[in-house]
Amino acid sequence: MRRSIVWILVLFFVATAISYSFAQTIEVGIVLPTKDEPRWIQDEARFNDALKTAGYSAEILFSQGSSAREKENVEALITKGAKILIICPHDATAAAASADEAREAGLKVISYDRLILETESVDYYVTFDSIAVGAAQAQYLVDKASGTGNPLYLYAGAATDNNSFLFFEGAWNVLQPKIADGTFVIKNSSKAIDLQGKAELTRAEMGDILGQVTTEWDFTTAKNLAEANLTVAEVADKGDVFILAPNDGTSRAIADAFADDKDIKSYVISGQDAEIPSVQYIIDGKQSMTVLKDVRTLVKDASDAAVTFLEGGVPEATHTYNNGRIDVPAKPSQVISVDKGNVKAAIIDSGYWDASEFTGLD
Ligand code: BGC
Repeated sequence: MRRSIVWILVLFFVATAISYSFAQTIEVGIVLPTKDEPRWIQDEARFNDALKTAGYSAEILFSQGSSAREKENVEALITKGAKILIICPHDATAAAASADEAREAGLKVISYDRLILETESVDYYVTFDSIAVGAAQAQYLVDKASGTGNPLYLYAGAATDNNSFLFFEGAWNVLQPKIADGTFVIKNSSKAIDLQGKAELTRAEMGDILGQVTTEWDFTTAKNLAEANLTVAEVADKGDVFILAPNDGTSRAIADAFADDKDIKSYVISGQDAEIPSVQYIIDGKQSMTVLKDVRTLVKDASDAAVTFLEGGVPEATHTYNNGRIDVPAKPSQVISVDKGNVKAAIIDSGYWDASEFTGLD
């Protein structure tokens, strides 16, 4: 009797261990950069929606702005048997080691929204057209400006993110002719002023400008930088101003700083991501525009690419992006410029966000 109880217990533990290890197996591992920005919570939510019908098992982990944590996440997903890694790198170059590790373990690596640099271990890149994002931001400022001598304040994303360069390049393409013809006068970057005669900038030149105007994609850094710029600016550098802000989180922070300055009479400011708080800022007239990058499309492209790889195929590519080592195949998606005039059609009527998220919509 005692012996059979022991055997039953042993069998029970073995069965539990086996089912536990099966339950832990996943096919697709997803790594996102941080939970601290609404943008990436959007991606998590949209992935969770997509995963209900995806037909594969997946797990989402966050790196919380740490490349070390990101590496641990990738290793955990490899251990769980993932066949595909979908990863949005915190730091483009630091993530190369994780991509290499995944490739060595036999995974396909999909770079998600941000390109991983300086490695051959990237199989596909799902992205929006980031040059078009920067161009849309700048075009909005250009369309709202009249006359000459309009004060222009430039801000950018983190230099560890390849997108920051693409956004800036897209914006510079549109702004530079309008700086050259006197419509705008740059007020917060001596490096940008030094380079304002050049239609095209090298990456190193953009890096120099970013060094002066980076927000690090961080709200506090953005607010402090804007306040510091306003502190040294003369009254004549203020008045009706134009602000290139790289995304919604930094746009709200910079907008708040400019709104607090008594010598600022009005400001036009860009953004991107259509985050709920920024859509509210647009409705309230506190942020001028955002660029809608429909995350549902990006998630679908990443999911479709994962399924194609799982079935042994190769996902469709319309473009390539050079990551310093190879040309990575990609299919960039289009973006939409949104302001108070089309916010209801683009954001609510399209089903992107529910009207109940906002006040003052009519
Ligand atoms: C993304 C943006 C995001 C930013 C900060 C960029 O790489 O493309 O959508 O706002 O990172 O997280």
